[in-house]
Amino acid sequence: MCGIIARIGHGNAAETLLSGLENLEYRGYDSAGIAVQNGSGVKVHKCSGEVSDLKSALNTQPHGNMGIGHTRWSTHGPPTDENAHPHTDTAGDVAVVHNGVIDNYDELRADLQGKGHEFDSDTDTEVIPHLIDEYREATGDTERAVRRAVETLEGSYAIAAIVDGEEAVYAARKGSPLVLGLDEEEWFLASDVPAFLDHTDEVIYLEDGDLVVLEPDSYRITDLAGNPVERSVDTVDWDPEDAGKGEYDHYMLKEINNQPTSLANTIEGRVEDGDVAFEDLSPGTFDGIESVQFVACGTSYHAAMYGSQLVREAGLRTEVLRASEYEATTGPVDETTLTVAVTQSGETADTLDAVRTAADRGARTLAVTNVVGSTAAREADDAVYIRAGPEVGVAATKTYSSQAVTLALLSQRLAGDVPDATPAADRAAMLEALTDLPQHVEAVLESTRAETLAQDTLDSESFFFIGSGLGHSVALEGALKFKEITYEHAEGFAAGELKHGPLALVTEETPLFAVYTSNGDEKTKTNAIEAQSRGAPIVAVGPDDNPLVDVADAHLSVPETHPVWAGLLANVQLQLLSYHAAKQLGRPIDKPRNLAKSVTVE
Ligand code: F6R
Repeated sequence: MCGIIARIGHGNAAETLLSGLENLEYRGYDSAGIAVQNGSGVKVHKCSGEVSDLKSALNTQPHGNMGIGHTRWSTHGPPTDENAHPHTDTAGDVAVVHNGVIDNYDELRADLQGKGHEFDSDTDTEVIPHLIDEYREATGDTERAVRRAVETLEGSYAIAAIVDGEEAVYAARKGSPLVLGLDEEEWFLASDVPAFLDHTDEVIYLEDGDLVVLEPDSYRITDLAGNPVERSVDTVDWDPEDAGKGEYDHYMLKEINNQPTSLANTIEGRVEDGDVAFEDLSPGTFDGIESVQFVACGTSYHAAMYGSQLVREAGLRTEVLRASEYEATTGPVDETTLTVAVTQSGETADTLDAVRTAADRGARTLAVTNVVGSTAAREADDAVYIRAGPEVGVAATKTYSSQAVTLALLSQRLAGDVPDATPAADRAAMLEALTDLPQHVEAVLESTRAETLAQDTLDSESFFFIGSGLGHSVALEGALKFKEITYEHAEGFAAGELKHGPLALVTEETPLFAVYTSNGDEKTKTNAIEAQSRGAPIVAVGPDDNPLVDVADAHLSVPETHPVWAGLLANVQLQLLSYHAAKQLGRPIDKPRNLAKSVTVE
């Protein structure tokens, strides 16, 4: 949902801004722009399209030691050159980049137009430089003007601004992420750490209400009243190489292939002597908890389904809710409820909204996230990190696997802590098998079957995915991934639901991928055969030792393992299937149309 960056220091800013924007493109890629300041005015360069289009449009690199940049996912106004950020005031003296949504922009714009301000775009953002300009006129002080401007805004924002003739970057946040990066010779601000990870791993996660002024040799953080604010400096343990594409054609393929490593990181130190250890959670964290509700969106919702089933199997009351439907679907919530926000970015607006509502009603809250310092991590009572490392491809892959494993471990921790709950009867075997999961994923990655199958089924009309129990959530995830990056019609169903309607769509042109996790998965087999007898080619997705394999037309095989992990291996096969189908169709795999990775609007 838009990425912003700012940089100030010695030397030229433009190259750093452009490469930082490339690392933020997963947040939006329908237009891009930078503004630099070099003592002879604020120079803005922007266009619709991707950062690569902006780079091609720049004949020479703009000169200046400080600047701001933006990569956009449109909310107000189509992706045109005019609507690209940065936006400026009428005279072009103040340039602003913004991530978020300004709710009261209509009335602010009318008011400013009444005072003679001229607007060039359809965006909500454009009111901000005009407001800063207006208040600079009134106060003669840019810092005070920025403070007054943000106080006037309703909605969410992370902004960075530069002003003609001033050696400073001004920034503020409320409801949208903003991180300060500290290097020896330069300071950065960005929506996310990968924007400047090539330069520094020392960061300050800014909080709502913070206002920052960066100057070439100093920075200061204040609250909106102007009082100094102390924020701790953290060291990020992500490798700069994690943020690049490396030898791979696409981030998605890199991230699929990274899963043996990312899963090993997720598991490390969390399985000890046949038991689950969570260094992030102190003893007594779950005292008094009687039920668990999961809130999440998209792929994270599918991981939450996985986790919720294991919590249910441990004997606890649990529900999994689509965060965007929280109000309409939540059961009773009080201090005996644990609300778990599953969100890899930690910034998804719908999920934050749901978990805040739960907290207001008295629930204890837990964030399960990939991003240290994210809003979910900071606002929840506790946070558990999935430790997947940076994920840049818009289609979530490795974060799904790490979320599901983290939630499975959490289910066992809850089972140990909550009276009346019971750990899985075969917990030791389950945890033992988990330690083999990274090498089992490695084996799946070596297989080329998904690629040939993608080729063989490419001309089909629709693609259906079914499964039961844990396999159901994997089927839904398989379908989501497939439609997201191939643009082909794909749907996932609970196996037993097929005959209650969707079977009407089944023909010989609709391959059906049947996910199973254990030998006893009769329902999936029966329903797959019903589809097969209507002509649909059946692909069995799971371990070899399953009766479905004998009747299926094709098989995406995974190593034998504990049933709790088999679904995650099946999911890796489906990730590869989607990837290769999308590649053969020539789709922009890392940047599927209309989507962005971090959805910070409701
Ligand atoms: C799909 C995908 C999305 C996200 C969803 C939630 O591949 O990535 O469905 O899972 O937007 O995002 P987070 O986990 O950041 O809350």
